[in-house]
Amino acid sequence: MRKSILSVILIIAIPLWVFSQQQLQNPGFEEWEDAGTVRDEPVNWSSIKTSDNDTLNTPAPVVWDISDDAHSGNYSIKLFNVRIWGIMATGILTNGIVHPSFIPDSGYVYTVPEDVMVILEKSCFDCHTTESKKDKAKNKLNFSTWNELSKAKKVGKLNAICEEVENGDMPTEKYISYYPDSQLNDEQVSALCNWVDSEIENLMDSK
Ligand code: HEC
Repeated sequence: MRKSILSVILIIAIPLWVFSQQQLQNPGFEEWEDAGTVRDEPVNWSSIKTSDNDTLNTPAPVVWDISDDAHSGNYSIKLFNVRIWGIMATGILTNGIVHPSFIPDSGYVYTVPEDVMVILEKSCFDCHTTESKKDKAKNKLNFSTWNELSKAKKVGKLNAICEEVENGDMPTEKYISYYPDSQLNDEQVSALCNWVDSEIENLMDSK
């Protein structure tokens, strides 16, 4: 029992540490919302039920509960591991996005804040993920295989991302003509570039 509590604490501590550079939103789990899940989720936090894998979101178990055993404020969050189909679903919650997988090595937590994830999904993922049919685009930049890149490559690609969007070169003009909503406004460009800066800082600080 001790051990599982500790692992839950570690898991929640990691995303908090990764984001220590940024302003954490709803850090005390005071605000909760209906995120389309059976149980309300804390605002700005994401779980394995609100992951980037639509197929797994429905069968995924609820691994958290609202608690009034709070250090400050009114609420706190209680996390637990759930065994389902012989697999341990980890009690995890993050300000980034969970990328769950049946193959443990392929699952991870994106250190991408939700506002940045929304931009990438809407304006970039059609071309820059493994599912893309645009070979030229995904050979240059593939978010699906991001974790396989060396640290130096990641830094290079991150800088290129900010540069491309600041110059208005991405998404491509043709793509914008089909999907006008994919064009980034100044605020979205800043959000992407701020994320790029903090990711590079985190990479430099890591081993
Ligand atoms: C319509 C498809 C499409 C979309 C959408 C798109 N890109 Fe691209 N992207 C490309 C293609 C094609 C290339 C390769 C261009 C070349 O080699 O000249 C590319 C190249 C890049 C590169 C250069 C990588 C390198 O190392 O040289 C970056 C960075 C990039 N895109 C970022 C983005 C970002 C960020 C978004 C979303 C805001 C985005 N792209 C949206 C098609 C796309």
